[in-house]
Amino acid sequence: MEIMAILVAAGRGERLGSVRPKAFVEVGGKPLLRWAAEAFEGVSAVDQIVAVVPADHMVTARALLADLHTPCDVVAGGARRQDSVQAGLALAPRDFAGLVLVHDAARPFVDATVIEAVISGARAAGAALPVMPVVDTVKQVSDGKVVGTLDRSVLFGAQTPQGFAYRVLLEAYAAAEAAGLTVTDESMTLEGMGHEVRAVPGAARNRKITTPDDLVWAEAFVDQRSAS
Ligand code: CTP
Ligand code: MG
Repeated sequence: MEIMAILVAAGRGERLGSVRPKAFVEVGGKPLLRWAAEAFEGVSAVDQIVAVVPADHMVTARALLADLHTPCDVVAGGARRQDSVQAGLALAPRDFAGLVLVHDAARPFVDATVIEAVISGARAAGAALPVMPVVDTVKQVSDGKVVGTLDRSVLFGAQTPQGFAYRVLLEAYAAAEAAGLTVTDESMTLEGMGHEVRAVPGAARNRKITTPDDLVWAEAFVDQRSAS
């Protein structure tokens, strides 16, 4: 095995406010987790998919991924995203010398172009993630008052998958845990260590489903694709 994709899907989706965990919410009749898994299945370099799901959804997840050709594993996640990522990392063989791609199942429409760019970046630099330029003017606000305007040209939004040499990420997470850090993405664990993280182009379609508005966008995206 050279590349393992970890799909983190163990969040509850509180901002979406759905009855079931967000990764199991359907768009175009297909759960977000399944959309994401199919995207990785479409990249031949990916040898294994690990879905990290709520403990009470492991059976559902296994059934959902059963007919994929890429070998799939399902594991229970944890309270924080970083706990879920580490639960996924624990499934790699001890001596794994390949890459891991950590992806939010909540980004169902990631495509092969982005996944392959991350793989190339991670092969070259040991760590890579897709980014999107920030389009709004960004203000710093404190107590309801504007404090300043940030230079947008150096600001980017981080997407997933984030790709790493497995060893590098495992050690970076161990260091982050030892320091008591809460991180919102994998890249943060390496930035503190001064390790290069290469930024590659992300995509608008690789949007994260967070609120009900995002779900409306996602349904429209699927409709428009099936119409064309
Ligand atoms: N995630 C996870 N384990 C957690 C928290 C989040 O695997 N303990 C996953 C989510 O399932 C999602 C991704 O991390 O695919 C990005 O997180 P987010 O969009 O914040 O999802 P949720 O935490 O489910 O949503 P919310 O914060 O609104 O509750
Ligand atoms: Mg969350």
